[in-house]
Amino acid sequence: MKPIPSEIFGSTRTSSEKHLEEYNNSGLKQISDGKVGVLLMAGGQGTRLGVNYPKGMYNVGLPSQKSLFCIQGERIKRLINLAQQKYGHCYGLPWFIMTSEHTMEPTEEYFRSKNYFGLKKEDIIFFEQYMLPAFTFDGKIIMENKYKISKSPDGNGGLYKALRDRNILNEIKKRGILYLHAHSVDNILVKVADPIFIGYCISKNADCGAKVVEKAYPSEPLGVVCEVDGKFQVVEYSEITSNTAEKKNFDGSLLYSSGNICNHFFTTKFLDEIVSKYQDKLKLHIAKKKIPYVNSKGYECKPTEPNGIKMEKFIFDVFEFCTNLAVWEVNRDEEFSALKNAYAPGGKDNPCTSRLDLLNLHKKFVVKAGGKFINDSLICEISPLITYAGEGLEPYVKNKIFCTNLELKSEQ
Ligand code: UTP
Repeated sequence: MKPIPSEIFGSTRTSSEKHLEEYNNSGLKQISDGKVGVLLMAGGQGTRLGVNYPKGMYNVGLPSQKSLFCIQGERIKRLINLAQQKYGHCYGLPWFIMTSEHTMEPTEEYFRSKNYFGLKKEDIIFFEQYMLPAFTFDGKIIMENKYKISKSPDGNGGLYKALRDRNILNEIKKRGILYLHAHSVDNILVKVADPIFIGYCISKNADCGAKVVEKAYPSEPLGVVCEVDGKFQVVEYSEITSNTAEKKNFDGSLLYSSGNICNHFFTTKFLDEIVSKYQDKLKLHIAKKKIPYVNSKGYECKPTEPNGIKMEKFIFDVFEFCTNLAVWEVNRDEEFSALKNAYAPGGKDNPCTSRLDLLNLHKKFVVKAGGKFINDSLICEISPLITYAGEGLEPYVKNKIFCTNLELKSEQ
């Protein structure tokens, strides 16, 4: 196991303003030319969050009451506007949304009811991933009820099979899309179709890219992007010894610090290669889970301990097949806050931490644009239709002092 080589690694921390602007302009130009698509992975079951509807519909309690889907949709809309303003046109930024048996119908219905967040209906394409059966530890298929095999979605790496067999890759090609930004649904700070990330990956001539955050501490439960036996891969935190996880560089930073956040860049060409050559070579990971089952008397039971395994493919398992991987490190405060768990006092990655992380970022945007808050307890939310990453806020906030909570809404 080796850390990723420095020549494929870039970071917002160490890149100059000039380089960041160049990446941004290059990414935005591709967006305006209609060469970029978004692949949203929204087929998970969200078991830890524990709601019986798709996670993307979750409202973390922002003043606007916006859901994750809504925030992401509005960011796409803003990017389209930015691309139009800068390059005079934007030929569309299609949003491909992977759902699963459980999330397909409610997701589609939700988007319909929200009028597709003001985006063009034909630029939002839903597709369903496949399911895999669950097994007992001795390899028997589990029955959910007397007449139904217990199945669960085949993991976010099920994306590749779904792209092929649901004819989505052909649609991507038909639309002339060259670059895809793929990400999870549950990161409230996600910069959807991030032009800087796209521009950086293009500058590196990458066929595949991973956005990462610096690991906060050695045992943080984030997989790390690294090289194993000469191949790039993500090593799960459970797969490395604490000795390895704690290894440091001379400057005291962690040797294995590139925390994977389910945020990737792909060229269409690379996706095409994966689905045609490597899709069936992707390994299956197993997770021991509590899986409801029907017992031999026909009663439906809910186990209190793990009683079987679910199998999943992971999106990042294609890294080993790429020619040029690029890794782009971003600031966690600005780009990563995952919604994984139900609220618990002092807990992590829950609705409360997601909400606070977004509100804090928006406050930072205001301060950077020349506004001030009279005290730290005030909160601030800005519509993504007004700003994508803090730009364009001066007319609203410069030289203003805010004494009450601030919610900047768009008139669109
Ligand atoms: P997670 O692995 O965190 O799973 O997914 P989850 O479903 O959100 O939550 P738990 O583990 O059941 O509590 C990371 C991202 O991958 C997507 C999820 O929707 C999320 O955006 N995903 C996961 C899929 O699209 N399909 C899957 O089969 C699994």
